Amino acid sequence: MWPFGRGRARKREELPSVDRLPQHVAIIMDGNGRWAQARGLPRIAGHEAGMRAVRRTVRAADEFGIRVLTLYAFSTENWRRPREEVEFLLSLPTRFLESDLPELKERNVSVRVMGFLDELPPHTRAAVEQAVAETEGNTGLVLNFALNYGSRREIVYALQRILYAVRDGTLAWSDVEALREEDISRFLLSADLPDPDLIIRTGGEMRLSNFLLWQAAYAELWFTPRFWPDFTREDFLEGLRAYAERERRFGALGDGGRR
Ligand code: FPP
Repeated sequence: MWPFGRGRARKREELPSVDRLPQHVAIIMDGNGRWAQARGLPRIAGHEAGMRAVRRTVRAADEFGIRVLTLYAFSTENWRRPREEVEFLLSLPTRFLESDLPELKERNVSVRVMGFLDELPPHTRAAVEQAVAETEGNTGLVLNFALNYGSRREIVYALQRILYAVRDGTLAWSDVEALREEDISRFLLSADLPDPDLIIRTGGEMRLSNFLLWQAAYAELWFTPRFWPDFTREDFLEGLRAYAERERRFGALGDGGRR
């Protein structure tokens, strides 16, 4: 029996051992536009196919026993795209949750959202907030959508809240002296989530694109040339295996005493 015991049959043999499995996997889902272009299709067809890849990946993450899956669905920079594309991208969470929420509930998934929600269209915000509320007590996979998310803005927002707390007297200057890394983490949008252990980026680019910059301090990064709409369970497993083979030292020395 798989130790997380979520009541589903697991293909245990194909996975790294539990202690080598990342708790939190975050994914930069890139390559939708190029996937569509390669087929002579409009970019939004790539995003539509990207939604199907989201469904596959959530199922796989649940079945692998991942605790938290964060998906970079819309960045604070994505507003710069053509209006039709932005509207389409922001319709996807609504459509996905309309179709998949029953299955997510059945899988005991807890839906979360991280980003500047008050700037989203009302239907997008309502759909995610409803999904969050309806799955709040679930104890399985945490499915965290980064929506209208940007890491630098998140850090500015955290600093603003800290400074307001000082101004309003709820944080004393003596506390500022004692400010620690954990205190910054506490003010980020990801406050109650563990830092990502593994960040996957599809589509061949090797950068973080303003995603989880603070939280990624010790994350392993894994890049694949596969366009997001083509990302399969087998690709996901390849990333998990690559992670399992790496030695994470968090700045300390490894067993051999070498740096
Ligand atoms: C980057 O590809 C991808 C995005 C900006 C959007 C990601 C969104 C999805 C994969 C669908 C989300 C679905 C749900 C249910 C939330 P790109 O368009 O920049 O690709 P390109 O680099 O090839 O142009």
